[in-house]
Amino acid sequence: MALDNVRAFLGAIDAAGQLARVTRPVSVDKEMTEIADRCMKSPEGGPALLFECPTLLAGGASPYAVAVNLFGSERRMALALGVERLDDVGERIAELLNLKVPEGLLGKLAMLPKLAEVAKFPPKTIGGRAPCQELVLQGSDIDLSCFPVPVCWPEDGGPYITLPGVITRDPKTGVRNVGMYRIQVLGKADLAMHWQRHKVGAAHWRAIAERDETMPVAIALGGDPASIYAASAPLPPTIDEFLFAGFLRKEPVRLAKAVTCDLEVPAEAEIVIEGFIDLHEDLVLEGPFGDHTGFYSLADYYPKVHVTAITMRPEPVWPHTIVGRPPMEDYWLGHATERIFLPLLKLTLPEIVDLHMPAEGIFHNLVFVSIDKQFPGQAYKVMNGLWGQGLMALAKVIVVLDKEVNVRDPKEAWWVALNHIDPERDVRFSMGPIDVLDHSSRGFTYGSKMGIDATRKWKEEGFTREWPNRIVMDEGTKARVDAMWRDLGIEL
Ligand SMILES: Cc1cc2nc3c(=O)[nH]c(=O)nc-3n(C[C@H](O)[C@H](O)[C@H](O)COP(=O)(O)O)c2cc1C
Repeated sequence: MALDNVRAFLGAIDAAGQLARVTRPVSVDKEMTEIADRCMKSPEGGPALLFECPTLLAGGASPYAVAVNLFGSERRMALALGVERLDDVGERIAELLNLKVPEGLLGKLAMLPKLAEVAKFPPKTIGGRAPCQELVLQGSDIDLSCFPVPVCWPEDGGPYITLPGVITRDPKTGVRNVGMYRIQVLGKADLAMHWQRHKVGAAHWRAIAERDETMPVAIALGGDPASIYAASAPLPPTIDEFLFAGFLRKEPVRLAKAVTCDLEVPAEAEIVIEGFIDLHEDLVLEGPFGDHTGFYSLADYYPKVHVTAITMRPEPVWPHTIVGRPPMEDYWLGHATERIFLPLLKLTLPEIVDLHMPAEGIFHNLVFVSIDKQFPGQAYKVMNGLWGQGLMALAKVIVVLDKEVNVRDPKEAWWVALNHIDPERDVRFSMGPIDVLDHSSRGFTYGSKMGIDATRKWKEEGFTREWPNRIVMDEGTKARVDAMWRDLGIEL
């Protein structure tokens, strides 16, 4: 049975022995961050945290609990998606897509909604009162300062909603998008929406601006864990994240009609914030924000959302995450994406054996990829191929290694790469789009990329010297030493 909401997820996490309940008062003003950061930095990602008595920014007890680090371990990520191994999901998708479908990752992924196995679980809009709409606040009752919205880091521009599913609709195709974008709380009923220019929500906003229409937006906090994850996954714009979540869950996501705007929202959410963006209004200053790069992202201008309703369960849990110097909870969400999308990448770049984005590389800064090299120049084919696949276009450094290198172990990958490269010969620079959060590129979202060919070099690639073997002890000697080990009296 799929987990339907945050409370079911918390129950499953508790049953797995990974939930810490914090019963003493803790302020949403940075204290929660310091506690959660220490947990997220501990081995295996630390426990999930349920702060049962948060203190609000203005002082006084919050009526609602705050849950942090729900997705922050491999085990919890697998629990969220209802699998034993994260790789199972990617393999299931790849099997479905291993058909004669359009070339390119986006083309193949775009086929997903057409496949029977996926179409079996479309989101279902229910009638009656949805759990997330048992209480409805409108007009002067809307006051976001009554909710435990944390200020994460000392230089942050204000309190932030950090784990939302932002629901918008493409005005041309009608296809829904759900994206995880941070949102700054500016006032009782005003928000700043930080969707970056490469993201689907921002594309919808640009498309609606062309039509001179008002843009409805709904912000879901909570819902089933697969939907929360799906909001963070780099799906092509043609795929509705709730359809994808239904496929992951093997059960449809239940939706309800929003109360004040023309969108559907997850019925099982804890809280839903409904609103609109007035395209005639000036942008508002958003940030700074202590970001997942480990540095502050600078303040910049983003659209303002006017809140028209807050709907909720009677005792909602506020889902929250903290980003900052890695590793943090978002590493595990990204890790799930890495595992789920790997088989898809292999469909278009079949020489790929494995791929890993280590925590320190915050996804787009560093991609290690191992390949089964069959012809000269193949490392360059792979890095160019990767730079052409969806959000992989933002990858800053790609290091290509031979198939026997365990790229999931960054120490091994660097050890081999640094041994194998002649920097002038094996490093190439290219140009392309750069992540909005990159503070070093020469222009905003535009800059250079580095590809490192750390594969063994071939004669055809101009390498005529002998290439040495890796040092590995022979099995016979190992077995003899194993047999004598106890007698040696050495403790390691
Ligand atoms: C915790 C977390 C916070 C994120 N914050 C933002 C953000 O503020 N703005 C943004 O554009 N992307 C953010 N992302 C990345 C997007 O969620 C991700 O790129 C996703 O694929 C976007 O969905 P879309 O492809 O439907 O636009 C965040 C991801 C995570 C895991």
